[in-house]
Amino acid sequence: MSTIFFDSTISDDVRREHLYNGHLFVFSPCPSAISLCDLAREMAEEAFAPLDPREAQHSLPVEDFVAILAKLKPAFIHHPKSKQLIQGILQESGCDLNKTYFDVPRLRTATSDGYLSSGIAYAFHPHRDTWYSAPQCQINWWLPVYEITSENGMAFHPRYWSQPVKNGSRDYNYVCPVE
Ligand SMILES: [Fe+2]
Repeated sequence: MSTIFFDSTISDDVRREHLYNGHLFVFSPCPSAISLCDLAREMAEEAFAPLDPREAQHSLPVEDFVAILAKLKPAFIHHPKSKQLIQGILQESGCDLNKTYFDVPRLRTATSDGYLSSGIAYAFHPHRDTWYSAPQCQINWWLPVYEITSENGMAFHPRYWSQPVKNGSRDYNYVCPVE
């Protein structure tokens, strides 16, 4: 049975133990998390201007949409401010900066109505991240760039935490030059 902790103040060591046992933690945004989401929104809005990035698929040819994302995503991932803000989030969340490794942040995008069904904005099949060679110790943090709605949220399926799932990665072959 998984527990969802809200704004828990337990230590990073205990929190990590809980996470590795399949529990979930939800936090109110810390200042660095707000800044990281601000940065993502600013960059997305600049890239899609004058369109709203959330609605752009409805008025852009798919090739143009893909071309914008192909520039926007690596620009955000490798923006020097992104790395600083990730460190800020770790610090503000009680992690030991001398012992915590972090990866650059990925900007996830998805479209609707079959607009883009492969490549850069593909909605991933259900999977374990280790199927993509993520290290077993990896802990994922998810931040909503825009307000969460029922249509754009994500689901967790905690019963599969301890239940074996056959690796289905041979059934798909992502052509995904940029995450
Ligand atoms: Fe994943």
